[in-house]
Amino acid sequence: MNKIVDFSKFSSIKIGPIAEVEVINEKQPLNNHFLIGGANNLLISNNPPPLAILGKEFNYIKIEDNQLKVGAATKSGRVFSFCKKHNIGGLEYLGKLPGTMGGLLKMNAGMKSYEIFNNLISIDLENITKEKKDIDFGYRYTDIHETIYAGTFDIKQPFNYSLVEEFSIMRANQPSNPSAGSAFKNPQGDSAGRLIDAVGLKGFKKGGASWSKIHANFLVNLDNATFEDAIFLIKEAKNRVFEEFKIELEEEIIIL
Ligand code: EPU
Repeated sequence: MNKIVDFSKFSSIKIGPIAEVEVINEKQPLNNHFLIGGANNLLISNNPPPLAILGKEFNYIKIEDNQLKVGAATKSGRVFSFCKKHNIGGLEYLGKLPGTMGGLLKMNAGMKSYEIFNNLISIDLENITKEKKDIDFGYRYTDIHETIYAGTFDIKQPFNYSLVEEFSIMRANQPSNPSAGSAFKNPQGDSAGRLIDAVGLKGFKKGGASWSKIHANFLVNLDNATFEDAIFLIKEAKNRVFEEFKIELEEEIIIL
């Protein structure tokens, strides 16, 4: 089954074409399709590769054997509410981290030291359940290239309300304009926001896109920004940061 998605509305950065997306309703090989998740970390051109999205069968949360099992199509906000209601700790930052479980796991998303892999037990792939110890992962990185269908988490700790407050404070210097979150990963020992700011690009605009005035590592869509506007700003930031600091910024957003 296919569905038509308008990425200028669906993606968090509100950029992209109207495109056909294959809906995956049962476990199957990906066949070179790119899984879009919630399109929270994507920048999609007018000519993207074949795209796919997980169907509602994979949108679920359940407690099994005192473990939390979350389907990959489940949105972070739903997981956060479930954890709060059932007094489950360890995923409190999901209240401030938009995404679907599959996308969050694939990139080991997180906020500072709070990462989705911290209390992960295993992930469900097409034919196997893979234990965390058998997965290579790090800062905003995993070696998973197959479709993730679910993640299973430890539920030892109670829900921690003071962490919720802490995550709100962490978000306070981030813009609310449409964006894809942090545009670049932080280079080791430094931060992309500081570097983009230092080369004078904070608030710098191209067409309808801008490096945010609030936080320089957020590429924001202020007014009908195009894919080209966004790419221009990404290249400009990489070039200037390299010229000035000899540091190669690596995109956190995925460009399709
Ligand atoms: N900074 C500047 N200018 C700016 C922005 C930041 O100089 O315009 C400096 C700050 O003063 C600070 C440093 O850069 O010294 C780091 O900034 P911040 O504390 O805002 O954190 P960050 O490293 O930019 C990271 C994650 C965010 C996450 C916050 C939680 C990355 C790339 N970013 O931001 O993750 O929400 O910590 O505090 O790891 C995401 O990955 O999409 C994301 C939003």
